[in-house]
Amino acid sequence: MKNLQEKSPIYYAEADIYDAFAQAEDAEGLVLQALQPLVAGKRVLDLGCGTGKYVELLAPHAAHIIGLDAAPAQLAIARRRADGLRNVDFALGDALDASLPKEKYDIVLACWMLGTVADKAKRAAILRRMEKLAPHIVLVENAEGSEFEAVRGRVNDPRRRTRRYNEWLIGQGFRETDRLEALFEFRTVDEARNIFAAIWGEDKRPLLTARHIGHKIAIYQKRIGI
Ligand SMILES: C[S@@+](CC[C@H](N)C(=O)[O-])C[C@H]1O[C@@H](n2cnc3c(N)ncnc32)[C@H](O)[C@@H]1O
Repeated sequence: MKNLQEKSPIYYAEADIYDAFAQAEDAEGLVLQALQPLVAGKRVLDLGCGTGKYVELLAPHAAHIIGLDAAPAQLAIARRRADGLRNVDFALGDALDASLPKEKYDIVLACWMLGTVADKAKRAAILRRMEKLAPHIVLVENAEGSEFEAVRGRVNDPRRRTRRYNEWLIGQGFRETDRLEALFEFRTVDEARNIFAAIWGEDKRPLLTARHIGHKIAIYQKRIGI
């Protein structure tokens, strides 16, 4: 089954398609607006940075930002995006155990990464590592009930995956600090169909009828030691 889970082939063999998806996501920049004050002047580690959307957008505000990803093809695009940005570095490896530059981080950021790790023990272990790396963790995640959730089969999902994951975060001491009503904006409805078909399968095509797709996003934060 196609999806965006941790080792999805899209990250390894079709990163340009993932990049088009990420660039269409949150067309109005609501996530950036929420993250900008949090990272201002801070040393940031972006775990699962993908093709570098938030590395590029946040670099002008942060003191320094390191993007880590396990997928070489994703990182290759991220490096191109960040070309010329002097306060940016990248590292290749698994968030669980990758060796990281031995500097101090103020914030560990993970945008749509932790929830892609289906193995619950590994997910918890990555979170424990995040807690050791910085005193402030910021997660950007999907919230329930959006058109996007409906298209990817998460509305009336008998396994209630989005809700269970978001509840797990609360149980781990996170607070939901922002709920954003965002939009994917593709150039055309056909572009949206092609990208969703490549990521989730051909059966998604008829579910997309417009180039905008509603997307509810939640931001979670945890401060360690508070
Ligand atoms: C849904 S994408 C999000 C990418 C990016 N943060 C964004 O907002 O566009 C998830 C990314 O996390 C990476 N990833 C997933 N599990 C990982 C892990 N255990 N270690 C490092 N990277 C991981 C994937 O390779 C992929 O690039």
